[in-house]
Amino acid sequence: MINIALPKGRLGEKVYKLLARVGYGCDEYSEESRKLVFKDSRGEVSYFWVKPADVSVYVELGAADIGVVGKDILNEYNPDVYELLDLGLGKCSMCVAAKSDWKDDISVPLRVATKFSHTAEKYFSGQGRDIEIIKLNGSIELGPVLGISDVIVDIVETGTTLRENDLKVFTKINDISARLISNKSAYKFKGGEIKNIVAKLAEVIK
Ligand code: PRP
Repeated sequence: MINIALPKGRLGEKVYKLLARVGYGCDEYSEESRKLVFKDSRGEVSYFWVKPADVSVYVELGAADIGVVGKDILNEYNPDVYELLDLGLGKCSMCVAAKSDWKDDISVPLRVATKFSHTAEKYFSGQGRDIEIIKLNGSIELGPVLGISDVIVDIVETGTTLRENDLKVFTKINDISARLISNKSAYKFKGGEIKNIVAKLAEVIK
């Protein structure tokens, strides 16, 4: 039995379809269902739907053998897992953005609104720039709009949220996409099966 943690939502559904195509489908699966765990009738695979930011927690603690998580989460929390494959899905970038007319004033710490505190701290310390983190949990773009921060560090996918709020990207920190990860001891004990999944997924996403 292989246990797989999938991020709830559109990305998780896409990944499930890829896994089903390579032989890991479940007869219990339904997009409408609110069930959080579902298994196939042969007892070969079991899926859990979890919050995207929690996938690496389940995998690191061994509740799931493998899972799918954004590179943004791996960069932010640095979980003790193996990163096995870039699935090329959920592509976006981690950026510094601000109001279009923003000018940096280096005589004062930069106020940075973000969900990704470690990522922001690491980036700005590499720039030698003092910052103050304003930790938000969503709608990060409101930080500069309402004046509680100078900039944001956040994910940009289409750029629509920035545009519609009169903000723009000043720096791209890095590219993000969904990654297949594995629990370290599962990779030892179920290595054959996990490598088989990686090889088959790599083939279908080519
Ligand atoms: C994410 C991100 C941006 C938005 C970017 O937010 O934090 O706000 O998507 O996408 P875009 O470039 O295509 O507009 P999400 O929808 O996850 O909601 P959140 O505000 O709760 O983080």
